[in-house]
Amino acid sequence: MSIKVYVPLDSGSVALGADDVATAIAQKATTAGADVKVVRNGSFGMYWLEPMVEVETSHGRVAYGPVTPEDVDALFAADFLTGGEHKLYLGRTENIPFLKSQTRLTFQRCGFIDPVSLEDYRAYDGLTGLKNALEMTDEQIVQSVTDSGLRGRGGAGFPTGIKWKTVRDAPADQKYIVCNADEGDSGTFADRMIMEGEPFVLIEGMIIAGLATGATKGYVYTRSEYPAAIRIMNEAIEVARANGVLGDNILGSGKTFDMEVRMGAGAYVCGEETSLLNSMEGKRGVVRAKPPLPALEGFMGRPTVVNNVISLCSVPVILEKGADYYRDFGMGRSRGTIPIQIAGNVKHGGLYEVGFGLTLGEIVEQIGGGTATGRPIKAVQVGGPLGAYFPKELFDTPFDYEEFAKRDGLIGHAGVVVFDDTVDLMKQARFAMEFCAIESCGKCTPCRIGSIRGTEVVDKLTRGEDPELQIELLTDLCNTMKFGSLCALGGFTPYPVMSALTHFPDDFKPHALDIAAE
Ligand SMILES: Cc1cc2nc3c(=O)[nH]c(=O)nc-3n(C[C@H](O)[C@H](O)[C@H](O)COP(=O)(O)O)c2cc1C
Ligand code: SF4
Repeated sequence: MSIKVYVPLDSGSVALGADDVATAIAQKATTAGADVKVVRNGSFGMYWLEPMVEVETSHGRVAYGPVTPEDVDALFAADFLTGGEHKLYLGRTENIPFLKSQTRLTFQRCGFIDPVSLEDYRAYDGLTGLKNALEMTDEQIVQSVTDSGLRGRGGAGFPTGIKWKTVRDAPADQKYIVCNADEGDSGTFADRMIMEGEPFVLIEGMIIAGLATGATKGYVYTRSEYPAAIRIMNEAIEVARANGVLGDNILGSGKTFDMEVRMGAGAYVCGEETSLLNSMEGKRGVVRAKPPLPALEGFMGRPTVVNNVISLCSVPVILEKGADYYRDFGMGRSRGTIPIQIAGNVKHGGLYEVGFGLTLGEIVEQIGGGTATGRPIKAVQVGGPLGAYFPKELFDTPFDYEEFAKRDGLIGHAGVVVFDDTVDLMKQARFAMEFCAIESCGKCTPCRIGSIRGTEVVDKLTRGEDPELQIELLTDLCNTMKFGSLCALGGFTPYPVMSALTHFPDDFKPHALDIAAE
C-alpha cells in the first residue's frame, strides 16, 4: 500500500512554497522507487511551521516543518517515510503543543482530511449533525442552536438561534441562507482556512440552517481575493450534489437544499450584511437602512439568514454532540469555542481554537510566543480595522464579548494583530481614519465626511499645529461618528482612534510627530 504524505494546499501554505514541496516529494519518490501518495490537505493553522509535511506511519501521523524543496533529499535520506529523525522532525502531529492545547470543535477535521473527499469527511464523523437534524423538527433545530449559546462570529456576536427563529417564523414562498465569507478584517483568515481545508462542514451547516428556517437555497458570498477557496468550495458543492447531500433529496429525506458560490468585487463594506445583499443583487455595495431586517426582507426582498462562515461551521458539531456539550465551553455569555487568528508581528502566528475566556496576554505572549522581532509588545489590535488597540496593562482582559466591550474594545471576527514597540499609534489612528474614508460607502455624513476630516485633524497634529485643540476636535469627531453613523464602519472607526489616543498619549506628543510626518 502507498505511504501517504500530506502537504497542505491552503493559500497560506502555498504562499510559503507548499506546491513546490509537493512536487519535489513526488519526483523524489519516483526516482527513489518509493510507493508514495501525496495527499493535499488543509492547513492545521500553524503558519510558522508551514509548509508542514506529514507522513502516515505505523505509529500515527508524524510531522516535519517548515519544509523547503531543498530539504526533500535529506528527508528521504533520513527515512522520513517511516518517521525517521531529522532536524525538521516535529513528532506526532496531534502532540504538537500549539495543536494539542486547543479545543477544536469547529475546525475538528481541518488538516486531517483531503478537503474535497466526502469519504474522508464521513470517516471523521462528518454529516452526523445533518443526519440528526433530519430527524428533528425545524423548531427543535432552532431551539438546539439557541440553547447552545452560539453567537455570530462575523463581528456583532448576535445570537444565531434568535436570527434563525425570525427567519423561520417569517411567512414567505422563498427564503435564503447567505453565508458571509467576505472576511475583510485585517489579520483574519479563519473563513478562508475552513473553506479551503474543510468545505463540507460549511455545506453541512448551511443545509442545517435551511432545514431550520425553511430556506431551500443558499449562497456563499466570498471575496475575489480567495480564488482557492472559491475553487475548493465549488468542487465540494459538486461532490455533495453528486452524492445526494445537496439537491432535492438530502440524504434520502425528500428535503431540498442547494447552494452556490458568489464572488464579490472587493470592498470592505460589502462584508456588512445589507451592503453584501445589494452586491449579490447586482447593485452597488451600499448599506441599506434597517429596518427592514434582512431576516424579514433580505436577498431579493425575501427572509434571509446572513451568517458568517464560522457561525455556520459551528452548527454541525452542536447538532452532532448536543447544545449542552457546546455550551459547556466558554465563559459568561460567550459560549462554545472561538477560532482566534493570531497575526502581525508574532512568533507563532496561526489559528488557535479554544473556549472563550483565555486572557489577551495568554494569547499573544504564551500561545503566540511574543513578537517575531523579539522586541517588546507595545499594542495588540483585536477585531480587525475597527477594533481597539490594547496596551499591556489590559492584557488581563478575557477573550469574551462583554469583557472586551467593558474595556471599549471588541472581539469582531477574532483577529488579533500584534505590534512591537516600534509602532507609532498616531500613525495607526490616522490609518484608521484613512481606511474608513477609502472604504466608506458614502451613504451617511458622519462616516463619509467625518473620516476625511479625521485624517486632516491627525495631519495637523502631526505638524504640531495647536495639538490640544486638535485632540479636542478628534475626540468630538469620534463621538459624532460613533453615535451618528448608519453602520459599524463609521460607527466603530472611533475605537482604534480613541484607544490609540487614550492608551498611548505619548505617541500624540510632539516628540513622535516627526515620525508621522515622514
Ligand atoms: C463594515 C463591515 C464589514 C463587515 N464585514 C464582515 C465580514 O467580512 N464577514 C462577516 O461575517 N461579517 C462582517 N460584518 C458583519 C455583518 O454585517 C453581519 O453582522 C454578519 O455577517 C452576521 O453574521 P453572524 O451573525 O454569523 O456574525 C461586517 C460589518 C460591517 C459593518
Ligand atoms: S457608516 Fe459609512 S459605510 Fe456605513 S452606511 Fe454610513 S457611509 Fe456607509
